Amino acid sequence: MAVVIILERKELRSILTSSFPREKTYLLPVLHYIQDEFDFIPEWALQIVSWHLRVPASEVYGAATSYSDIRFVSNDNQTVRVCSGLSCWYMGGKGIYDQLCSDVGNEVCVEVTNCAFTCSMAPLVEISGQWFSRSTVQSVLNQILRRSD
Ligand code: FES
Repeated sequence: MAVVIILERKELRSILTSSFPREKTYLLPVLHYIQDEFDFIPEWALQIVSWHLRVPASEVYGAATSYSDIRFVSNDNQTVRVCSGLSCWYMGGKGIYDQLCSDVGNEVCVEVTNCAFTCSMAPLVEISGQWFSRSTVQSVLNQILRRSD
């Protein structure tokens, strides 16, 4: 496993060097590129992004964690993320989160995520990378069932 990570690190450095200018303005494009390649952003990749763009690692981490579409875990397992922004949380998101944790929390990874900037469609829920608006507990459970078939 460690060998694979070392190879990926070297490869990522090389790809970033050849594909992205070493300018801070490329932070989000680089993060999205990595997510497209890995399906999520491995923690070690943040260090490489920091090195490549010459941006402090804390700033890279801060940017990456403030965008709800950036994931730090793979979508291999079914993951449900409930928007915890104010609109979503009080339009039913909290109830959805609590109910999912008690009903399917042992089978599905249930998390909260930051505002997805689609507040007018609250409550938003992301299921394995796909967003659903005006969600209810039942609509989320239906999606989970549909995906597990
Ligand atoms: S509060 Fe959920 S999208 Fe903004």
